[in-house]
Amino acid sequence: MRKPIFVLLLGLLAPAMVSAAGSGVPLDSADVDLGNKRSLRNGARLFVNYCMGCHSLAYQRYNRLGRDLGIPDDLVKENLIFTADFSRKPEGEPVKVGSLMTIAMPKDKAKAWFGTPPPDLSVIARSRGADWLYTYLRSFYVDPKRPFGANNTVFKDVGMPNVLWELEGLKAARYEKVKGHDGKEVEKFAGFDQIQPGKLTPVEFDSAVRDLVAFLVYVGEPAKLERYNVGLWVILFLIILFFPAYALKKEYWKDVH
Ligand code: HEC
Repeated sequence: MRKPIFVLLLGLLAPAMVSAAGSGVPLDSADVDLGNKRSLRNGARLFVNYCMGCHSLAYQRYNRLGRDLGIPDDLVKENLIFTADFSRKPEGEPVKVGSLMTIAMPKDKAKAWFGTPPPDLSVIARSRGADWLYTYLRSFYVDPKRPFGANNTVFKDVGMPNVLWELEGLKAARYEKVKGHDGKEVEKFAGFDQIQPGKLTPVEFDSAVRDLVAFLVYVGEPAKLERYNVGLWVILFLIILFFPAYALKKEYWKDVH
């Protein structure tokens, strides 16, 4: 009897164990709100401005994004499209609002520049999880030993430069020596020190990153927004249905009581 329960518990814990593995840095809660269209729109704006130079969303179309986030096509064209459409021809074509959100960076060149080509981020929120993304994007710090002068506490020796530094400012990471399990001294991350302020305050920056992560969560599963809407109607329907159902119940049981 005991054993199946143990196995079940283990099964429930498994996803947590997987996500805890890795850098060992505790993750902050992203706490995204997919019902907040303003947050998603801001996330989309940040993404096309700060990320799309290197990362594509090859399964997402601009107009689908516009429809889901409540942005009319002409505003999508004006505010979100800065690149050409590379999905069919390597030299690119003008982007139509129905085009996929691909980018021009050739994989082989990207590998030479960064060591690793920047991956497509269509499903990154599903593979890494929102909390990981939220923590990762806020964990870049100055490290002169790295090619781009930046490292990351969540993703050690990452190939990605600190692209949000203008907004966040620059941080140094503080490490302290602690005794590991085997008694040997190991370096443990102990916190960040701001060494140069950015355009945003730390609170504003966290909020901007939350919007960006919310956008990536949406991109990972666009149908989720539709389900949210449908869910709302279903609940409304059930609430309304309650009244005739209750009246019927009273009617049927009238003679019994
Ligand atoms: C200058 C190019 C560049 C820009 C701009 C850039 N990245 Fe990256 N990014 C990279 C590279 C290169 C990697 C691969 C790093 C590695 O594997 O070492 C990467 C990796 C990542 C990863 C980790 C993927 C994984 O392996 O799990 C995430 C998440 C990510 N980027 C998100 C973003 C977001 C969000 C933005 C916009 C704020 C952004 N990146 C902007 C180059 C870039």
